[in-house]
Amino acid sequence: GHTNGNSNPAVRSYEVDRNSTSEETVYTTSNGVPYPHPYEVQRVGDNGPLLLQDFHLVDLLSHFDRERIPERVVHAKGAGAHGVYKTTDPLDDLCMADIFQAGKSCPVSVRFSTVGGESGSHDCARDPRGFSVKFRTEEGNWDVVANNTPVFFLRDPAKFPVFIHTQKRNPATHLTHADDSTAFWEYACHNPESVHQFMVLFGDRGIPKGYRKMHGYIGHTHKLVNKNGDWVYMQLHFKSQQGTDFITQEDSFNYGPDFSTKDLYQSIEKGDFPGWDVMVQTMTAKQAEEIWEKQGINVFDLTHVWPQGQFPLRKVGEFTLNENVKNYFAEIEQIAFNPAHLVPGIEPSADPVLQSRLFSYPDTHRHRIGVNYQQLPVNQPRVPYRMANFQRDGSMAFYNQGARPNYFSSIEPVGLRARSVNLDKVHGKFVGEAVTFLSEIRPEDFNAPRALWEKVFDADAKERWINNISGHMENCTDKEIIRRQITIFREVSEDMASRLEKATGVTGYSGISELTFLGTINGMAKDEELRPAA
Ligand code: HEM
Repeated sequence: GHTNGNSNPAVRSYEVDRNSTSEETVYTTSNGVPYPHPYEVQRVGDNGPLLLQDFHLVDLLSHFDRERIPERVVHAKGAGAHGVYKTTDPLDDLCMADIFQAGKSCPVSVRFSTVGGESGSHDCARDPRGFSVKFRTEEGNWDVVANNTPVFFLRDPAKFPVFIHTQKRNPATHLTHADDSTAFWEYACHNPESVHQFMVLFGDRGIPKGYRKMHGYIGHTHKLVNKNGDWVYMQLHFKSQQGTDFITQEDSFNYGPDFSTKDLYQSIEKGDFPGWDVMVQTMTAKQAEEIWEKQGINVFDLTHVWPQGQFPLRKVGEFTLNENVKNYFAEIEQIAFNPAHLVPGIEPSADPVLQSRLFSYPDTHRHRIGVNYQQLPVNQPRVPYRMANFQRDGSMAFYNQGARPNYFSSIEPVGLRARSVNLDKVHGKFVGEAVTFLSEIRPEDFNAPRALWEKVFDADAKERWINNISGHMENCTDKEIIRRQITIFREVSEDMASRLEKATGVTGYSGISELTFLGTINGMAKDEELRPAA
């Protein structure tokens, strides 16, 4: 792992000993000098102005002034813990990753979150939940940056920043969508590929009863590569061993703002350790082509799911959270999860949203935490070999690789051990064809939402859904927006749309063949002229 490469006391790093006694622990200024007056300033006389020479006060105030780092631009409110993962059912036939071989285990750190709210926002907001896991494997850190829903609101990453704007505070009024849902629904009614995720959001899964009671889904198709270089597509699932549970909209007002945070912390404190099964769905390249041709499901489109009947779940391992953090800021606020943190044997697919995320996360980490964020203890890889590369310097270079040459040199050689990626075994032709279709609305976009309404939601769940969504629409100031959104829901189910018409008092159009969408191609428009993205 990391060492700063020098045992000279002048530059040796130190560790704060948590168990030291008060006799050994001395109050000091930040340069280590004992200071006898923690609660007193230096001033001229009894009532005079303060002294600039009072380094203790300057030290104290100037550090306090800088206590905040930018909160995460999304997923700012969260909670986390540490634990252990172990492989119970090796995946070595499909994947060469060290962590999936028989008998392997590793430490994990997990962070759960809501998405839209600020760091102080309510845990019981109706929102997707983030579910990030850092697997500290012997081949480096592998991060799964997942959600509690298998699908997402969009399939073209250029929409992400604007979509998020409509989930956050209004630029003029500074109100959230709980008070003014106009932008929220205006986005939805022009971007119908979001319909599946909006249905999930206003269903029971929209407010899970704490972080322990939810599943996690990687969402994006990935690739598993085995030691022969053969590959399959993969979806990863975390199945809660606690089962799932939810809170209704009305009941959510009875919960405290930090309910999920407290629930996680307290259950771990009392030894009731939550756990999740790690499972995969896999698909061959041929199956991916077939499911596109026969069912219109594009595996690079994360508004769609892989049907579990056709692609059953296979258990690989499980993880348990058995240790609360000692310091929230150091261990959770500064932890940096990144979908590009993959280990040999696990690769990204051509899903354009995933491809964009591979850039966006480390970019935000450099902004939010700083260029050397990987050197912070919680982010450091714990590997059985000594890490070396040619990155040097930058702000807070705590570990700067000592005297080792900063280029490829025989003076202090750096071993190369990595297995190379099989770039020739890509799904070339299929990728190109599939990606161009993603921006266009097709009838297949409504199949899974329809199954959700007709086969998954029972009568009570349907009732709650109608109430949740019509209640939220009450704060939308533009009836035409609601009219259009009901029209989109009509493509899912006539029953659903007509019940929503009754609940909102707004009548939709007959179908989306009559609509044009801002920025989205309507492949279902009856009139060829309505098709181009406006
Ligand atoms: C957090 C960008 C889509 C799950 C974040 C952060 C950014 C971001 C900038 C803040 C990270 C940090 O400050 O550490 C994006 C972009 C997306 C996208 C550009 C699409 C183009 C998704 C999707 C998922 C997801 C599809 C789930 C499948 C998460 C989670 C976090 C997060 C769980 C919180 C990570 C943590 O706990 O620290 N995202 N995101 N995001 N995102 Fe995304």
